[in-house]
Amino acid sequence: MDILTDKNVLLGITGSIAAYKAADIVSRLKKEGCNVKVIMTKSSELFITETTLEALSNNKVLSEDTSNSTKSNFAHLDLAKWADIILIAPCTANFMNKLGNGHGDGLLSTICLAFTKTIFIAPAMNPDMWNNKVTQASIDKLNAAEIKIIGPNYGSHACGDIGYGRMSNPEKIIERIKEKSKITNLSGCRILITAGPTREPIDPVRFLSNYSSGKMGFAMAVAAKSMGASVELISGPVAIESVKDVKTSYIETSSEMLNAVMSRVQDFDIFISTAAIADYKPINYSTSKHKKNENNINIEFTRGTDILKTVSEKYKNIFTVGFAAETDSLQKNTIEKLHKKNLDMIVGNIANHELGLGFESDYNKVTIFSHNGTKEIDEDKKTNIALNIVDFIAEEYSRKIKIVKSDAK
Ligand SMILES: Cc1cc2nc3c(=O)[nH]c(=O)nc-3n(C[C@H](O)[C@H](O)[C@H](O)COP(=O)(O)O)c2cc1C
Repeated sequence: MDILTDKNVLLGITGSIAAYKAADIVSRLKKEGCNVKVIMTKSSELFITETTLEALSNNKVLSEDTSNSTKSNFAHLDLAKWADIILIAPCTANFMNKLGNGHGDGLLSTICLAFTKTIFIAPAMNPDMWNNKVTQASIDKLNAAEIKIIGPNYGSHACGDIGYGRMSNPEKIIERIKEKSKITNLSGCRILITAGPTREPIDPVRFLSNYSSGKMGFAMAVAAKSMGASVELISGPVAIESVKDVKTSYIETSSEMLNAVMSRVQDFDIFISTAAIADYKPINYSTSKHKKNENNINIEFTRGTDILKTVSEKYKNIFTVGFAAETDSLQKNTIEKLHKKNLDMIVGNIANHELGLGFESDYNKVTIFSHNGTKEIDEDKKTNIALNIVDFIAEEYSRKIKIVKSDAK
């Protein structure tokens, strides 16, 4: 049993020279245990025969002329309900632009409009068609509609041009669909995330804090939500718009963070601590402002509670994920924290303002460490990094619960 077993896949084929590769895609989907139905656009009929696809899919091929394909007046709705996954491969420039603009002028495009799950497309076109400003603008729209674009690759084309536009190979397409399908593992999963800095007041006008912007934590909340989890966020003071459908509470000090986490965490399956919580807090808060005429002031600090360690020790059933910003020896320091704090996973990054990564930046470069392995994620937007991390969490979390279940037998 694998992730695609028994999935209903609707394969849309459009009028590209790469359409012949669709036969390989159907065979591979069948090998994965999928039920496959093929829909061909009129143009695609010039490039591959219905007979081949019918034989491989073991299903009647549907064409744009619905009256030939199905008896139902609501074929577009029936098929949209039947499918678990829609894959359009190859996807022409014409079809990408249609999809990006929400057109429904044929069976395939209308099904896509009525479909509520994930659509994957594997574009195939000449490099100039790919680089065309309208096509590029459609890519932004497709991304915004959460349509997953696989490829295209760089290389030489049938027309002799060289550049981006070659369809990803069928093996890679299936691999990507499997990768993306795994993330539904988080549906029904409850995740508590902390984000941002804390502030430790010294006197009524001053506090000790750090450079954390909260961007990584909020990106993690968006990613976990988009992967089906039910998410709650506890954040320090940040200047970020709240995440839709994610209940967010705001705290200021490390003690308030401790109280907020400990009063909520028992209701969650996964706890992700991205917040940069002050390690030390002032012993004596001065109720009046420290005066400027003092040359030196001595403020004594004491160690605060390690919230993540407290959670991992008290709630062994909760999957705990830490974040560590290090200035040096990333691997050594991060792995040490993984063990010392009894975590399931830790995400390490080098904190360096000159690199423009990490604190305050929209970008980061991280390495994930777990008890089963390591994964490096190259420099990217925090929103993309968050998707990768949550994907990794989903995999590790499902492995952990499988082990717990088999131990209980
Ligand atoms: C020989 C030939 C090869 C073509 N290859 C492609 C291609 O690879 N990608 C593409 O976007 N359009 C390609 N086209 C143009 C499309 O077939 C055309 O835009 C068509 O209207 C697409 O219709 P559809 O998107 O409904 O399938 C090709 C046309 C011809 C004649």
